[in-house]
Amino acid sequence: MKEYSKKEIWEMDKNHFIHPYTNYQTFKQEGSQVINEASGVHITDDNGVKYLDGIAGLWCVNIGHGRQEMADAIAEQVLKMQYYNPFGHSSNVPGAVLAAKLAELAPGDLNHVFYTCGGSTAVDSAIRLVHFYNNQRGKTNKKQIISRNNAYHGSTYVAANLTGIHATKNSFDRIADSWISHLSAADMFHRPSGAEQLNEARYTQFLVDEFENRINQLGADNVAAFIAEPIMGAGGVLIAPSGYHQAMHKICQQYDVLYIADEVVTSFGRLGHFFASDAIFGMLPDIIITAKGISSGYIPLGAAIISDRLYEVISKPQCEGGLLSIGYTYAGHPVACVAALKNIEILERENICAHVQDVGPYFQEMVGSLSDFKIFGESRGMNLMLGVEFVADNETNQPLPDDADVGNRVFEHCRNHGLIVRPLGNIIVMSPPLIVTKEHIDSMTAILRSAIELTMSDLVKDGYI
Ligand SMILES: Cc1ncc(COP(=O)(O)O)c(C=O)c1O
Repeated sequence: MKEYSKKEIWEMDKNHFIHPYTNYQTFKQEGSQVINEASGVHITDDNGVKYLDGIAGLWCVNIGHGRQEMADAIAEQVLKMQYYNPFGHSSNVPGAVLAAKLAELAPGDLNHVFYTCGGSTAVDSAIRLVHFYNNQRGKTNKKQIISRNNAYHGSTYVAANLTGIHATKNSFDRIADSWISHLSAADMFHRPSGAEQLNEARYTQFLVDEFENRINQLGADNVAAFIAEPIMGAGGVLIAPSGYHQAMHKICQQYDVLYIADEVVTSFGRLGHFFASDAIFGMLPDIIITAKGISSGYIPLGAAIISDRLYEVISKPQCEGGLLSIGYTYAGHPVACVAALKNIEILERENICAHVQDVGPYFQEMVGSLSDFKIFGESRGMNLMLGVEFVADNETNQPLPDDADVGNRVFEHCRNHGLIVRPLGNIIVMSPPLIVTKEHIDSMTAILRSAIELTMSDLVKDGYI
């Protein structure tokens, strides 16, 4: 690539690159911070300023940035055979080997892999496959997909409609003849009034009853699937009460409704296991959606991993010579699959899941120790997935108004001190690369402490607290 000045890059970006989820009011003046280099848990911007990447790119760089052996594996595959089409009976070695490896790592009988280029397309494809599955079984009315408020499932049309962060859909169209509905989020911190006094078991029952009532309202013959993240990520790291996933799964089985676990964030080690559904929540879904950490962001890749039961049905031709007519040019892309295989090799060789189980509780504890600040509402999460919610006063948990912009303020102060966190309204999220050490965690906590102190001063100055 030709060399450009910093200013030229900044302008090309500002004038031509449509960024995802961006406030264009500010973007048109401020443009982007351009990140130029990355190594281990650090990133460096085009001014040479180094930051600890507290969000692993975007919940994805699980093995850390800039691994030489990833570059070597990718380069070797590019030179050997960078692409050939995966349609019909044509395949490639990395695509086949990775599918078998994913079948080995995924729980139970989730043995069949439908490849995509990311998480949203994996969600969309899974829904198409679920509808096809029901059509094949003669259950052609079974179309309804039940999701949850605050869920994030992606940005393609169906995935965006399944998403329950409803503000993201302002002025965007919804799917017209809606076969999508949302339940309450499973969220211990914001239990609805009335349920507030409930203990965990009763809160679970409250949510499960809501689900069962919804199935009955819609008619079980019309309900195809339930989709849920094990821990909601972009919705604010929301933790379900204990027993929730198992109980929801039981209802699914009772009403012939498929359970789709969206593990785009929680798979490949973030919670200390390759997949969280079974290992942590004791529940075997019918489909697992994965992306992000599958290739640690070195090359885009996603997948829907489906059960033997589903495979048996969808792999029967719908008519003489009928095709399973779904799939992408880049499905099972050999370079992406090689990257995923090398990524998994590193995760296994370096025992990264065990490391996460070791440092994860320390991370949660250290950030939790900042609760002496009045605006520190709660920190929550599991292992290397963590959110901090800020409030006006943690005695009462009274929320701060949106225009206090507390998440962005904390983000800016953290960034000025060399740490990247992710602001989401009144929440900041942290999900560092899984190779983070206790020393890194100590620096992250110290920076966050200073950032909260500075944010408190700002909020006092501006009359919010
Ligand atoms: C739980 C979940 N599902 C799906 C997606 C969409 O993935 P992608 O952005 O790769 O399309 C995301 C992205 O953050 C996610 O967090």
